[in-house]
Amino acid sequence: MGMKEKIAEIHQLMATELGKTDGTQALENLRVKVLGKKGELTALLRGMGQLSPEERPAAGQLINEAREKFTAMLDSRLQELKALEREAALKKETIDVTQPAPQPEMGSEHPLTLALHELVDCFTGMGFEVMEGPEVELDHYNFELMNIPKNHPARDAQDTFYIDDNIVLRTHTSPMQARAMLTKKPPIRIICPGRVYRADEVDATHSPVFHQMEGLVIDKDVNMADLRGTLNAFAERLYGKGITTRFRPSFFPFTEPSAEVDLTCVSCHGKGCRICKGTGWIEVLGCGMVNPKVLEMCGIDSTVYSGFAFGIGLERIAMQRYSVPDMRLLYEGDMRFLGQFK
Ligand code: DAH
Repeated sequence: MGMKEKIAEIHQLMATELGKTDGTQALENLRVKVLGKKGELTALLRGMGQLSPEERPAAGQLINEAREKFTAMLDSRLQELKALEREAALKKETIDVTQPAPQPEMGSEHPLTLALHELVDCFTGMGFEVMEGPEVELDHYNFELMNIPKNHPARDAQDTFYIDDNIVLRTHTSPMQARAMLTKKPPIRIICPGRVYRADEVDATHSPVFHQMEGLVIDKDVNMADLRGTLNAFAERLYGKGITTRFRPSFFPFTEPSAEVDLTCVSCHGKGCRICKGTGWIEVLGCGMVNPKVLEMCGIDSTVYSGFAFGIGLERIAMQRYSVPDMRLLYEGDMRFLGQFK
């Protein structure tokens, strides 16, 4: 077979194979097959050694022309394929802007936050101001100024997380009473919500970290009836008409007299049920008239001013309000539980 025929054969191959290439990679394979180091046209070039010297120039020219031609064929096919690939990519990337967007899942407020907001709304509505303070607290505020002397059982290392001899994780929000009295002038009306810590067991009604909201009112002529009236208003506002308070005498070092306060059981409205253990009442807070000793230690003249204070357990309120049977549910972050508060 002469050189012309051989080239024609390769040309034929190129023409049929070129149409079959379905992408730039297939095209590259074809280029290698014909023009590559071991390609068919390259083989012809190599075979030139066997030709007579007279035949060589013509054969060489034919091969070079063929190379140029094939290269041009490959290039033009490459342009075609690139255009096709681009078109396909554009089609694939098209965004249908009329499609409804996937909805991100919305979170919801935690039941403790919900309860806190209700309490804050209620008390700010009565003229109280929110004041917050440190969870890492000086012994001086947490105990000393609250009239809890060095040998008081509440200081027992079993209850208190000590950081060092003078610093504790606050065991209640009551130190905020001292912080308020030392920085504000009467009349004072504040609520102080926040986290508190006790070396407690973890069970259905106890956690080493929980929340309280302290309340404090200091003014001239503040008496126990003001305290009761304020807490009754809070009970009605939060739980509705007919819910009232019951005061039981109690003891706290920082109040005198002191009381523990029960609310009419919201589940049975006082008839007695499983939740209130048949009593018709639920214990929710401690309160009392600010001990004159505390007033004096905090720089307030106890012959001119008096005051009342209360401390509400936030978990109790939230658990009652939303019928949560186990405190641990409030801290575990289980979405099946939290999703119910949307
Ligand atoms: N601090 C008390 C506690 O943690 C609660 C308390 C009782 C707060 C009586 C008060 C109060 O303000 O007057 O148990």
